[in-house]
Amino acid sequence: MSAARKKTAILISGRGSNMTALIAAAADPAFPAEIVLVLSNRPGAPGLERAAAAGLATATVDHKAYPDREAFERDMDARLTGAGAELVCLAGFMRVLTPWFIGRWTGRLINIHPSLMPAFRGLHTHERAIAEGVKIHGCTVHHVVPDVDAGPIIAQAAVPVLSEDTPETLGARVLEAEHRVYPLALALTASGRAVLEGGRVITLGTTASSALISPNSGV
Ligand code: GAR
Repeated sequence: MSAARKKTAILISGRGSNMTALIAAAADPAFPAEIVLVLSNRPGAPGLERAAAAGLATATVDHKAYPDREAFERDMDARLTGAGAELVCLAGFMRVLTPWFIGRWTGRLINIHPSLMPAFRGLHTHERAIAEGVKIHGCTVHHVVPDVDAGPIIAQAAVPVLSEDTPETLGARVLEAEHRVYPLALALTASGRAVLEGGRVITLGTTASSALISPNSGV
């Protein structure tokens, strides 16, 4: 069955803890995606070393070395295509992508964002969740569209916001949830059980849930 595994590249900019969760999930030969490349736009990103230690191919395409966004993306696109990537997962990749690149990979390009979209697009999501007094927060894996932190939702995980939370404690709780929901979303997408339909993702199969609730909710 391994021939049917979707060849997947992961794009990172930093520590790569979500990347590590995806690599761990894909280490199981029954997982429907295999990781063929980890690519960073930042030379020396800690995630690159982790990926190499796991025996994976890595590449650096340093955005600072290019005259403009599209030149950078053309090179990145060539690396992805060269690696045979069929799916691309953004995992803490902190560059805004152009409509050209997104158009090239539409339906095959997914991202994780640390909020329950459509709430809290952009930066500092945990601080803003606390400031708004929301009681439930979380993370979302979604298809990438030209709007930032928007696009059809594949899977979400929710965690409680506790009265004593700081952005750090809440962020740590959300990150744990990210590490559970991203492998789920990739599995659903790679296996064809999460299907784009009319601007939404429909999850097929009676056992395929795409929502996770924190088991440590304390409520
Ligand atoms: C994660 O929390 C991810 O959701 C966030 O960056 C962090 C990367 O951590 N992404 C975004 O904010 C994108 N809008 P990681 O490198 O340890 O996976």
